[in-house]
Amino acid sequence: MITIQDNLFVLQTDHTTYSFLKLPSGHLEHLHYGPSIDTTGAAEVLTQKCRMLGGNGIAYSKEYPLLGLEDRCLEFSALGHGDVREPFLDITFENGSRTSDFLYADAWVSEGKMPMKALPSSYGGAQELHVLLKDSVYYAELELIYAVFPACDVITRRAVIRNQGEAAFTVNRLMSLQLDLDDSEYVFHTFTGAWAREMNHQRIPLAQGKWINESRCGISSSMNNPFVMLSRPETSEKAGDCFGFNLIYSGNHCEMAEVNAYGKTRVITGIHPEGFGWRLGPEEELESPEAVMSFSAGGFTGLSRNMHTFVREHIVRGEWKKKERPVLLNSWEAVYFDFDEEKLLAMAKTAKETGIELFVMDDGWFGTRNDSRSSLGDWYCNYEKLPGGISGLARKIEALGLRFGLWVEPEMISVNSRLYREHPDWAVDVPGTLHSEGRDQRILDLTRPEVRTWLVDTMSAVFSEEGVSYIKWDNNRIFTDIFSRARENQTEFLHRYYVGYYEVMDQLTRRFPHILFEGCASGGNRFDLGVLCYMPQIWASDNTDALCRAFIQTGLSYGYPASVVGAHVSACPNHQTGRMTPLATRFGVAAFGVLGYECDLAALTPEELAEVKKQIAFYKEHRRVLQFGDYYRLVNRRYNDFEKGVWQWMTVSPDRKEAIGFYMMEQAVPNMSFGKFQTAGLEEQAMYRFRDVGEKEEEWLVSGSLLNHAGIKLQQAYAGHYRREGMRPFADLDSRLYIMSMILNP
Ligand code: DGJ
Repeated sequence: MITIQDNLFVLQTDHTTYSFLKLPSGHLEHLHYGPSIDTTGAAEVLTQKCRMLGGNGIAYSKEYPLLGLEDRCLEFSALGHGDVREPFLDITFENGSRTSDFLYADAWVSEGKMPMKALPSSYGGAQELHVLLKDSVYYAELELIYAVFPACDVITRRAVIRNQGEAAFTVNRLMSLQLDLDDSEYVFHTFTGAWAREMNHQRIPLAQGKWINESRCGISSSMNNPFVMLSRPETSEKAGDCFGFNLIYSGNHCEMAEVNAYGKTRVITGIHPEGFGWRLGPEEELESPEAVMSFSAGGFTGLSRNMHTFVREHIVRGEWKKKERPVLLNSWEAVYFDFDEEKLLAMAKTAKETGIELFVMDDGWFGTRNDSRSSLGDWYCNYEKLPGGISGLARKIEALGLRFGLWVEPEMISVNSRLYREHPDWAVDVPGTLHSEGRDQRILDLTRPEVRTWLVDTMSAVFSEEGVSYIKWDNNRIFTDIFSRARENQTEFLHRYYVGYYEVMDQLTRRFPHILFEGCASGGNRFDLGVLCYMPQIWASDNTDALCRAFIQTGLSYGYPASVVGAHVSACPNHQTGRMTPLATRFGVAAFGVLGYECDLAALTPEELAEVKKQIAFYKEHRRVLQFGDYYRLVNRRYNDFEKGVWQWMTVSPDRKEAIGFYMMEQAVPNMSFGKFQTAGLEEQAMYRFRDVGEKEEEWLVSGSLLNHAGIKLQQAYAGHYRREGMRPFADLDSRLYIMSMILNP
């Protein structure tokens, strides 16, 4: 619900209020973002009351001598007139000046939510608030757009800048979100990492200065995911204030948390201004990506719930939005590039016997691709490997009772390819200079319409092959040595690339609505809301080690639901770490995402194969709650004196009739044998049967309130000597899955 009354703007969601005030000068002062409040009197009470400006403060104007922009919470800020914090907007006008003066001109509320012109955006919002600001000197106008999603307590923000004059100007930055807060008692949470170790949760206590979470490598990146949080120091999983921010964009981004000299905190998010410069001609406009923000007083769990619902309901779209995702077998770690039809069919046959539903042929099926050094761009089948072509193989896989999917990396070009020989100018590189290669490949210049047309046509031909029902869309090099032969202004290149990429994705996903797309970029190098607008799931990491995955998937769980996280059971010793992990634990971790297998099933023992069969049957039976349930991080302790890495998660069906829990211990500790499993989110008044999957150690009939507030004291684990009947063997990396089912007629 959005209201505008007496200069007071109020945006209400089910549990939060966001409010700002139009000042007499035309500036917008931010008043409140947090738990729902009755805003009667807010305009007088929450505005900053200023009787003098301190020391070297700048007064906005003679007319408003007590308005100092530097020490006030603002809804929007630009360069000049006193605010020296990171600005939302930075323009260089024709005369070389970077000072602007955008003041309130108009505002209106519209019902529903409009899609954006050239960028992906959320859908299904209840209302939108539009606030128009005009520069007092230059003919430039800025529209701030807010959308509310009441049920998940999310508000999104974006902006559009328009040139209404006769001279062009350069937009050096146009951010998406600015949130100014009164104090600085906050912790900034970022999710950082690198290839194969994505989403490491960092906690940075704020102090005067600036903390920047950024990607400058042209892709949202595994180094710094665009999802960040701001919490109070005392905020816990279950209680306390927490803000979450994300961006619907896949390129360079930055999220800054700045504490100024007066102890106020500013959060700014959007396209990274570094290297960005957009020439805006007369009558042209530029829109910033949509930023997502949410507040919860219910701790990290509450915030995650909001974000999960938002992603599931308002980002993911199309036929697969709420459909249970198939259990797949991916060929990559099983055979890498070394396969032929016979090998693949043998794998598919075993896969079928275990209950797998979808067979995915990964890299290596096209051109002359036998390693990573060639053929990207040559998207025609290698008939030496697959004599019947893609559809020939697909038909045989389908005859086994499996669905078929394949891998592509369409945004790339190998120098050693037919495509490069025909169109060397389509590659992104700087003419006449040394080009630094990444994984022996270059990026196709998607800012060029003819390249986009070629790409859509070429991929359409591949996707139209009979039997293709799944596509893994990979992207394995980051942007450096950026240059487009088709552009004069290279500072526009990266953003134009993403506008082109989204256009391609839009066309292909519309043309092939039945295909399940899985995003991938060397694992989680492009795990973002921009991609999720087109592809309902993303391969989270090239690291399939269960322990590493526990970190990565826990990191992801703060901002993304399990239904978008691709997770596979792979071979041991693990290919990334060499670690040996029990098969049950590899499954337990992967089951808390979209489950797949990525190993040579034929290399498993008959006992292991039987176990895999049981795992898949279990997953299928509980798939809805595992993929779409309400997720809780119960215990997430790395090391203390008594426990060495304890992980407990659970997921509860929306009707609370069913829940699945997971308990993993990184290292066994002798004589520390009493464990506990305490749940969350179960129906307090109901009775539940609590039991473990497989070991038959626990079977209890207890109330939801007992489970939620006291927990089950588990059977004693082996403690260092004397094995006794009924004990719970729990060695390094052992785990358990628990099922909780509501007793409907106790
Ligand atoms: C990187 C991906 O993340 C892997 O899963 C695999 O598809 C390889 N590319 C194939 O080249």
